[in-house]
Amino acid sequence: MSHVPHILVTGGAGFIGSHTVDVLMNRGYAVSVLDNLSTGYMTNLERWEKHPRFHFVNADITGELTSAFARIVAHSGRIERIAHFAAQTAVPVSMDDPVGDIQANLCGTARILEYARHNKVTKVFFASSSAIYDDDAPVPVSEESRARPMSPYGIDKLAVEFYLDYYAKLYGLTYTALRFMNVYGPRQDPKSWYSGVISIFLDRAVTGQPITIFDDGEQTRDFVYVTDVAEAVADTLMSRSGDNAIINIGTGVEVTINQLTRTILDLAGSASTLRYEPPRPGDIRRSVTTMEKAVELLNFHPRVALRDGLHATLAWVRQDKTRSAARSGSAA
Ligand SMILES: NC(=O)c1ccc[n+]([C@@H]2O[C@H](COP(=O)([O-])OP(=O)(O)OC[C@H]3O[C@@H](n4cnc5c(N)ncnc54)[C@H](O)[C@@H]3O)[C@@H](O)[C@H]2O)c1
Repeated sequence: MSHVPHILVTGGAGFIGSHTVDVLMNRGYAVSVLDNLSTGYMTNLERWEKHPRFHFVNADITGELTSAFARIVAHSGRIERIAHFAAQTAVPVSMDDPVGDIQANLCGTARILEYARHNKVTKVFFASSSAIYDDDAPVPVSEESRARPMSPYGIDKLAVEFYLDYYAKLYGLTYTALRFMNVYGPRQDPKSWYSGVISIFLDRAVTGQPITIFDDGEQTRDFVYVTDVAEAVADTLMSRSGDNAIINIGTGVEVTINQLTRTILDLAGSASTLRYEPPRPGDIRRSVTTMEKAVELLNFHPRVALRDGLHATLAWVRQDKTRSAARSGSAA
């Protein structure tokens, strides 16, 4: 029988992690998910729950992981590669509680890296963020743009990148860190800080509620669809591409919030009214990445155009609302 590589996905019940699990499972690998379900959902993994190549362990990376790792290995064998998504993902939460952010995003990651080092894990993927860049960096940002995170979340993501480099130099660990721009798509929790704009606007458009735009709506973002991101993660994790590199992942397309809103209203056939309010402190004016490094090292070419991605996300929002209504109806 041919050997089936075994991958650990931390945070695999979350938004991007669960899409990555889908890609890895569809490619025929054995996948274990380690997640504490703090912001992730088992419903994101329901299609795999009974699959013989799939295993879920409820564990928290802020605590002792020895028994969780032991259970994973006992069930599915040696962990060959790790995709590390588990994190405290909200920037405002990191500002309110920097110590908590360090515990999850720095100490938790160090536990994963220590496991990787002592158990000769072949490669580690790390979910980094465009939040490491200086707010005033000229756009488009490249990997060489100045790093100057303005939140404990961004500081901890950047610190992990230094740890990865240190582990690579000292212990020969192989890694790839991808700095995600604004990822969006089905399963994104509307409560999430990231691309909250798409989740919130879709929700409001579908229910016909007014949509609030901060500033004049001409501020820009780089929205990348979640399946494009998940494919890129799986590609780099399972190959030599992007070895020991840090790479921005976006589309290189700068979209204004006004353009985004018009597309959402059009797709949803919504009559929601627009309200403009003063800019929020800390919101950056422009955000978009260069694509050179992602193309050169990963051959990354995002396939899903914004309109198509919004269309698919809108369908999911509607379906999710129907499912939630059915659940609360049957619970009543
Ligand atoms: N969504 C984006 O646009 C974006 C942008 C840049 C970086 N990222 C990074 O990508 C990763 C995934 O983000 P997401 O948007 O899918 O968020 P998410 O909240 O949907 O996923 C995070 C997952 O990690 C789990 N988790 C959180 N704390 C944990 C802990 N202490 N122990 C074990 N599991 C824990 C959660 O339950 C959840 O399933 C994160 O590392 C995030 O910082 C996301």
